[in-house]
Amino acid sequence: MGKALDGVRILDFTHVQSGPTCTQLLAWFGADVIKVEKAGAGDVTREQLRDIPGVDSLYFTMLNHNKRSITLDTKHPRGKAVLERLIKSCDVLVENFAPGALDRMGFTWERIQALNPRMIVASVKGFGPGPYEDCKVYENVAQCAGGAASTTGFDDGPPLVTGAQIGDSGTGLHLALGIVCALYQRNATGRGQKVLAAMQDGVLNLCRVKLRDQQRLARTGVMKEYPQYPNGKFGSAVPRAANASGGGQPGSIVKCKGWETDPNAYLYFITQAPVWKEICHVIGREAWITDPAYATPDARLPRLKEVFQAIEAWTMTKTKFEAMAELNAHDIPCGPILSMEELAAEPSLRATGTVVEVDHPTRGKYLSVGNPIKLSDSPTEVKRSPLLGEHTREVLAELGLADADIEALSAEKVI
Ligand code: COA
Repeated sequence: MGKALDGVRILDFTHVQSGPTCTQLLAWFGADVIKVEKAGAGDVTREQLRDIPGVDSLYFTMLNHNKRSITLDTKHPRGKAVLERLIKSCDVLVENFAPGALDRMGFTWERIQALNPRMIVASVKGFGPGPYEDCKVYENVAQCAGGAASTTGFDDGPPLVTGAQIGDSGTGLHLALGIVCALYQRNATGRGQKVLAAMQDGVLNLCRVKLRDQQRLARTGVMKEYPQYPNGKFGSAVPRAANASGGGQPGSIVKCKGWETDPNAYLYFITQAPVWKEICHVIGREAWITDPAYATPDARLPRLKEVFQAIEAWTMTKTKFEAMAELNAHDIPCGPILSMEELAAEPSLRATGTVVEVDHPTRGKYLSVGNPIKLSDSPTEVKRSPLLGEHTREVLAELGLADADIEALSAEKVI
């Protein structure tokens, strides 16, 4: 069976996390991704957070599956000549250098267009045009500048960053969509275009509901689904909502049996209005079904703390899995707090390829997250990440370079 992006060639100038997330997805959908790395060094993450001396880190291997790696000094005149050939033979150039790096290398948008008018140039940057456009950005800076940190955490604590890499991996996802759209538009126009995904924009997009709440707060001065209601104070900006869903169906994290010793013995419980009756039955509060102080969602809003305390008194008598089984039997939405240890061992995630075991020549076997997006006619086979420069000679030969030229590049340390 073919793959969705068969025939698409990606010149992958990405490093660290955001860009590699994007090109890994494209590779999983069948694109030929050629990762260009600095000769003698490679993507800096190859050696960051190493758990085995001298072996590519999990940081690198888990973000660079299904790619080919070539080394090339793109600041050397002969390296630039090879890069020109690559630009002419590829469909998309993806990069997440600091602002201006590609231009400084001599490969401006105009130059790339002159070499290959069909080339799509896709970039992750920290910020879009504006006061911070020249700034370098890493994950947590994006979470802070994109609105996530100011809205995450507890009301009486400092802003918090989240473990989900919404700045890096989230922006990589946004960029991948932009690239596929640009490829689609190219079918009609025959021309490439620039695709930009700024990390601040990507995070803000994922925090869309908080900008919704900002405007609700500005209009009404209060948000009844937030834990600050009814006894706390609201300021002028959306506050941190702790574990409250803050949405139309109030939810919270509640303790389960074993919480005293297990940091993940918790459950997310949603008091969905249509199943209020069932919730009351399960937790033994039948009186709340008809009591006007509890019977409707509006009536419950000032009493959410009390409601969740009653729910927790029930969940603390069950493990998170027992509680989940019982609640699901009544169609009550809830979810266990799963640790990475539990996710790694979960058979259903292995069965769908969302968690995969990969074999690597120097690392041995390791676990990775496979393609979370499943296409029925383009299944993903996760292949190990390339060693540094593993495909340099293969790719240069495909570009038409003779063996003698390749030897000369090697002797001059251009590759
Ligand atoms: N051959 C020769 N030089 C190369 C090369 C190659 N194959 N590949 C890269 N380089 C050069 C670049 O041209 C640049 O040189 P210059 O600064 O002299 O112009 C240099 O290597 C370093 O690139 P840079 O991107 O500045 O790396 P950095 O380590 O200083 O910064 C980031 C890292 C992530 C902060 C920065 O790249 C950035 O802000 N990227 C955009 C936002 C982003 O993606 N952040 C999230 C990362 S997960």
